[in-house]
Amino acid sequence: MQNFGLKMWGDDNFIIKKNRLALNYAEQPTLLEITKKIRDHGYKGPLLLRFPHLIEKQISTLFDAFRSAMELFEYSGTFHAVFPLKVNQYPNFVHSLMEVAKPYGYGLEAGSKAELIIAMSETPLGAPITVNGFKDKEMISLCFIAAKMGHEIIVTIEGLGELQTIIEVDKEFDRESGRHLSPKIGMRIRMHSAGIGTWAKSGGYSSKFGLTSTEVLEAFELMKNHGLIERFSMVHFHIGSQMSEISPLKKALREAGNIYADLKKRGAKALTAINIGGGLAVEYSQHGHSRERNYSLKEFANDVVFLMQEIAKNKAVEMPDIFTESGRYIAANHSVLIAPVLELFSQEYHERSLRPKGDNPPLIEELYDLFHTIKRCNAREYLHDALDHRESLLTLFDLGYIDLEDRSNTEILVNLIIKKAITLLKDEDSDELKQLQNRIQEKYLINFSAFQSLPDLWGLTQHFPVMPLDRLDTKPSRPASLWDITCDSDGEIAFDPALPLHLHDIDVMKEEYFLAFFLTGAYQEVLGMKHNLFTHPTEAIVKFDENGEMHLGHFIEAQNLMDILDDLDYDTGKMDRSLKQKISRSENMSEEEKKVLLGKLYLYLSENSYLKTIQANQETEEK
Ligand SMILES: Cc1ncc(COP(=O)(O)O)c(C=O)c1O
Repeated sequence: MQNFGLKMWGDDNFIIKKNRLALNYAEQPTLLEITKKIRDHGYKGPLLLRFPHLIEKQISTLFDAFRSAMELFEYSGTFHAVFPLKVNQYPNFVHSLMEVAKPYGYGLEAGSKAELIIAMSETPLGAPITVNGFKDKEMISLCFIAAKMGHEIIVTIEGLGELQTIIEVDKEFDRESGRHLSPKIGMRIRMHSAGIGTWAKSGGYSSKFGLTSTEVLEAFELMKNHGLIERFSMVHFHIGSQMSEISPLKKALREAGNIYADLKKRGAKALTAINIGGGLAVEYSQHGHSRERNYSLKEFANDVVFLMQEIAKNKAVEMPDIFTESGRYIAANHSVLIAPVLELFSQEYHERSLRPKGDNPPLIEELYDLFHTIKRCNAREYLHDALDHRESLLTLFDLGYIDLEDRSNTEILVNLIIKKAITLLKDEDSDELKQLQNRIQEKYLINFSAFQSLPDLWGLTQHFPVMPLDRLDTKPSRPASLWDITCDSDGEIAFDPALPLHLHDIDVMKEEYFLAFFLTGAYQEVLGMKHNLFTHPTEAIVKFDENGEMHLGHFIEAQNLMDILDDLDYDTGKMDRSLKQKISRSENMSEEEKKVLLGKLYLYLSENSYLKTIQANQETEEK
């Protein structure tokens, strides 16, 4: 059974049923079955499946961990969570999140005006909204409007200038109605403690965000002098996403906890909360030696609660309510990208592609001989001979002594000999063989765009677990490199011997083969780029009712060609007229031919950028 590291990154959300990958939930449908059902609706190309039950699982696990920690340490504060919208603002995600999060009083965090509008309309009254990032007067005014609507909204100031603006807006709004409905104020601390990992620079002295100790004291005075101290309720920090180790968090908690206690001692009576930001890491690794975090959720929650309790006790202040803004942990696992394999790019090295001549050059004759007589006992020697012959034959080609057919036969025969030698010597642990094996990887062309669907892979070399949906009872034999369909050589997941991916040897002319990319639900969607004009893939929500019955819905199809161009502000009406005119004015076609051509053109314009199939003799995947 091949599990592609499922135990490590899968968190029991998926199981292998017979030879297929299945959801470990309700009736345990296989992902292939779900994919085929959706494709039966006519949706082709890559598919993004969303599983709301996995969002619910993350939220309940997070709340349970903090509840247990608070019971364990007899903590007197409360626990609250908001979801940072920057992690995923897509409506099918946000609506699913808010639906499953209702029982938890779960709120939203906004970092821009547009996100604030989502938060104001989607957060139920009573659940918190936190507002971070840089803000102008309009954004702060929107926060006041939210407060007047009855929202529990906390504006986190990132600098003294923002506080001045709050003071100004407060005066303006105060003139119109009562102060009690103004936003609460939070202060983001510019931490001495830096995070760890790719996103570590969100913390530390040189971080873009937050107030220095001097500014904290100045802000405190300003709030006191302008009657806003009773709105100052939260100290906030965030030391960076995907914290690989727990120790930087502990340092940051001590730092922020002591700032909280100090400000309370100075008379910040309304200060009741500490917001620890995000950072809780997700295990993306498929290989035991490359794990991405060294702590569990239990350890994380216990450390937060224990340290806050300890500081509060030592400083004789009340224990703060704890807020988290975990994003990646909540969203990453809810979506899976399923993409069909379109072609394998080494099938040309097949015996059937050889073009033997009646009179082959002697070195090629020798290659044939090596290929037919290679055995376990002579494999290494024959392998070296074949590699040597290849060098000589390529030189002969450059000098014009042999032709293209000879060169093609050389490439095929040497590759076949390497493959045979590797199989014959598979019990030997040799660097030379490993290097050769890596060189003869298959290139799997996948119907997706890495820039659109896995931007962190392209920009930050973030690894995402990947595995096929079926054939899981067969050992995959091919070292695989994955190519996306963009015209950009960066759109590749190259075979990495340190983190090897092996896939099955398939014939795409005869059988379908789908790959699934996991943990794509955090950050990838809105960061995704329309490189080559490949847009957000078709998406669907996979839900289960009380009886465990599966329901597929909320389909949003990838944009069609004209909509993509419209988004770039092309005048699509004008384009449409131009295309039509070019056909109708053509003198090379009959009226009947023009009609047929127009019909075809409009059919294609109504479809998206992803490929149907690239095999001419394969059935066209018409929608
Ligand atoms: C202020 C703030 N809160 C929360 C988060 C979410 O972090 P994560 O996705 O690691 O939980 C971020 C992300 O960078 C952030 O900047």
